[in-house]
Amino acid sequence: MNSIDASHFISFEGIDFSGKSTQISLLKEFLEENHYTVYFLREPGDTEISEKIRQILLDKNHHCMNEWAEIFLYSAARVQLVAERIIPLLKEGQIVIADRYVDSTTAYQGYGRQLDLDVVKTINQAATFGLLPGITFYLELTPDELFKRMNNADRTADRLETAGIEFFKRVFNGYKQIANLNKQRFCVIDAVQSIESIHQKIVKEVSKRIGL
Ligand SMILES: Nc1ncnc2c1ncn2[C@@H]1O[C@H](COP(=O)(O)OP(=O)(O)O)[C@@H](O)[C@H]1O
Ligand SMILES: [Mg+2]
Repeated sequence: MNSIDASHFISFEGIDFSGKSTQISLLKEFLEENHYTVYFLREPGDTEISEKIRQILLDKNHHCMNEWAEIFLYSAARVQLVAERIIPLLKEGQIVIADRYVDSTTAYQGYGRQLDLDVVKTINQAATFGLLPGITFYLELTPDELFKRMNNADRTADRLETAGIEFFKRVFNGYKQIANLNKQRFCVIDAVQSIESIHQKIVKEVSKRIGL
């Protein structure tokens, strides 16, 4: 995927409740105020086919879903999104923000579900044509902080959120390792700071890297 310039491709990562949606909407607002058009995509979803796959993945009745079926479904949704939306937008020079991308699969299916990491890497490569974001903001929230936030919010737990603290500890540790292996691309932010202070850090980094 050498021909695609991914410098305008920004992904957000972090466990549920880490503040991704909050920060994405603030960043989108900031960029739009500065006259940029921003394309926000959510994973899994944002194409007709990917949204149908999303419904299967998030269906609470599917607790018997095999973990390999799960990774292939996430990856099928992703490859459709990359081919149909992300690559054409980047070719036009647009700014693309993704709420979760390939690192989520490594963290959740690789580390969380403990699938073979080499196989996960191969699947991820195939599901993205090797296309990685220019910047990945990782909002780091410890599992303890996650459960605190979850208890304070009146949001129901989806299938992944019902997996328990041990699962989230593995995911947390997985994200740490992914961040260490991708220091250039990753911008790690402590998610326990105020919303405004996180936003300012993100704006500073985006401005620096995209040259706004
Ligand atoms: N920095 C923060 N400090 C405290 N609470 C936050 C912060 N960022 C987000 N929240 C709250 O945590 C909850 C989850 O935030 P959200 O942006 O939906 O996270 P995510 O998209 O990662 O699941 C929301 O109730 C939100 O208001
Ligand atoms: Mg969200």
